[in-house]
Formats: sequence, structure tokens, C-alpha cells
Amino acid sequence: MPERVTIYEVGPRDGLQNEAGLIPTEDKIRLVDLLTGCGFAKIEVASFVDPRKVPQMADGAALLEGIARGNASYAALTPNLKGYQRARAAGADQVAVFASASEGFSRANINCSIDESIARFRPVCDAAKSGAIPVRGYVSCVIACPYDGPTPPGNVARVAAELLTLGCYEISLGDTIGAGMPQTIKKVLRAVLQVAPPERFAGHYHDTADRALANIEASLELGLRTFDSAIGGLGGCPFASGSKGNVATEAVVELMESMGFETGIDREKLREAATFAHSLRSRS
Ligand code: HMG
Ligand code: MG
Repeated sequence: MPERVTIYEVGPRDGLQNEAGLIPTEDKIRLVDLLTGCGFAKIEVASFVDPRKVPQMADGAALLEGIARGNASYAALTPNLKGYQRARAAGADQVAVFASASEGFSRANINCSIDESIARFRPVCDAAKSGAIPVRGYVSCVIACPYDGPTPPGNVARVAAELLTLGCYEISLGDTIGAGMPQTIKKVLRAVLQVAPPERFAGHYHDTADRALANIEASLELGLRTFDSAIGGLGGCPFASGSKGNVATEAVVELMESMGFETGIDREKLREAATFAHSLRSRS
């Protein structure tokens, strides 16, 4: 039996949030529907942040209302309780809180310190627990920060441990600016694996320096089996200049299958979704 990997599709959120021109909601819905048809178990589709900060994500509720729900779990970013309430009212199946391992990015991205962010996430995680809603935790800048420089691996492990204590089922490790190399990714993984086993972590690698696939291979060696990617390699983060798109889903699926892992993704439908994702980028 081939071993299974989980590819967590983040294109509709992490991909589209960085597109300069506003993309019509119906096009986003079409993208999510195409992705649902590919067989993803989890798709991050929206972000309930301050719409003035990220106008591209302001239509999350309309998007969640318009999609044709399939077997996937549809996830949304929630920076605080207000975001959680909006996400739940819109029908998100799961939510994600997002912290940083560096103070500079925490301030730029969510306007508070790391400790303050953990305090904001506590009521989100408590509410989610009462509602039996799974919460994912992100840690950004696990290798380096565009404001503070290289990130000590111990800082990543500390924030990951706090998010796990809050109740996150999985921690996605964000190489937000794609600064990682297989050796540095392994260093940070060794630090976080002191805190929890590999099945509690996912790799979220932006492909800024074309090293995301090599970093995924290094992470597979240390036992990770969940990786985030964006259809068509869309994206970046508006609060980290120099952060290019996430690694392209098509490339990750190809890599995994060439290594003998099972992804559960329909390659033909994936091609169709990638072509549509590229058309959105060229229009925006
Ligand atoms: P703040 O200014 O500290 O929040 O923002 P506040 O509580 O002081 O509220 C200020 C105003 O925002 C108030 O409105 C609130 O109502 C409103 P006003 O009274 O001035 O009219 N507000 C909200 N409105 C709607 N939904 C909400 C919400 N919260 C407050 N949830 C906040 C803090 C986090 C909200 C803000 O800084 C923000 O929205 N930042 C955007 C963050 C973002 O979306 N970043 C990109 C995603 S993260 C990422 O890409 C990295 C990742 O991919 C991993 C990786 O690659 O590393 C996940
Ligand atoms: Mg990201």
C-alpha cells in the first residue's frame, strides 16, 4: 500500500489574497468548485480579517455561500474572536489562527506582539472547542523574517507549543519569504519535533527562491506528511514584501507521486484548475 500524504490547498486564500486587482466572487467560487472536484480533503477558501487591510478577502461570506460543497472541509483564517464569529456565521468548517515566530512580522501582519496574539487566539480556540470546530495554527517566519532577519528555531518551537496548548490540531510551519534551505528547514523541524510528533506539523513553504520542493523533500525525511500548496503557485503575503507564491500544487502532486506517495488528487482535474488559476492571475 502506498503511503498517503495530505496536500492542503491554500490557493483561494493565500494565493488570491496577494492579487492586486479585485477578483469577482463568482470567479473565486469557480476556482473553489474546480478544486473540490480534484479531491482535496481541505481547502482554505477565505480570511475573516479586517477587510480594509486585505480587500481581496472581503467577500468570504459570499464565497462560502456560493460554493458547491463536496467532501472537502472548507477552512478560513480567523485572527480574533470577531473573525471567528464571521467565519462560523458564513459556514466555515474549520478555522485557522496565525501567529509569527518573529515580533516584527507579528506587528506588521496582525498589529500585536506574539504574546498578545496568543491571548487573542485563546477565546477563538475556546469557542471552537465548544462548537467542535477544528482549529489549525500557523507559525510564520519560521526561517527568517523580512523585518527581524533569521529566526532562532527555539522561537518557532515556543510558539508552536503555545498553539498546541491552545488546542490547535496541527501547526503549519510557514516559510513566509521562502528563505529556507533543506539544512535550515531540518534544523527548525528538529526543534519543533522536540515539542510534538511529525503528524502534528505541516510544511507551508513559499517558493520565492525555488527551493520549496527541496524543502518538502527534506521535511518528508523527518516524517512530515502534510504540505500546504497553492494551485498555479498563486500568491504571497501582502505584509511580507518579497514573499512570492506558495509552492504550486501541481508540482507538489507530481513530486509526491514520483516518490510513490498517494495524494488522492485527480491530475486531469488539477490541470483544469491550474489553467483557471493562471487565467485569474493574468486578469488581475
Ligand atoms: P487591529 O487593528 O489590531 O484590531 O487589527 P482591533 O481589534 O484594534 O480592531 C480595529 C478595527 O478592525 C475595528 O474596526 C475592528 O472592528 C476591525 P473600527 O472600529 O476601526 O471600524 N476588525 C475586524 N473587522 C473584521 N473582521 C475582523 C476584525 N478584527 C478587527 N476579524 C487584525 C488586527 C488582525 C484584525 C488586522 O491587523 C488584520 O486584519 N490584519 C490582516 C492580516 C492578514 O490577513 N494577513 C495575511 C494573512 S497571514 C499569511 O498570509 C501568512 C500565512 O500564509 C502563513 C505564512 O505564509 O507564513 C498564514
Ligand atoms: Mg502563506
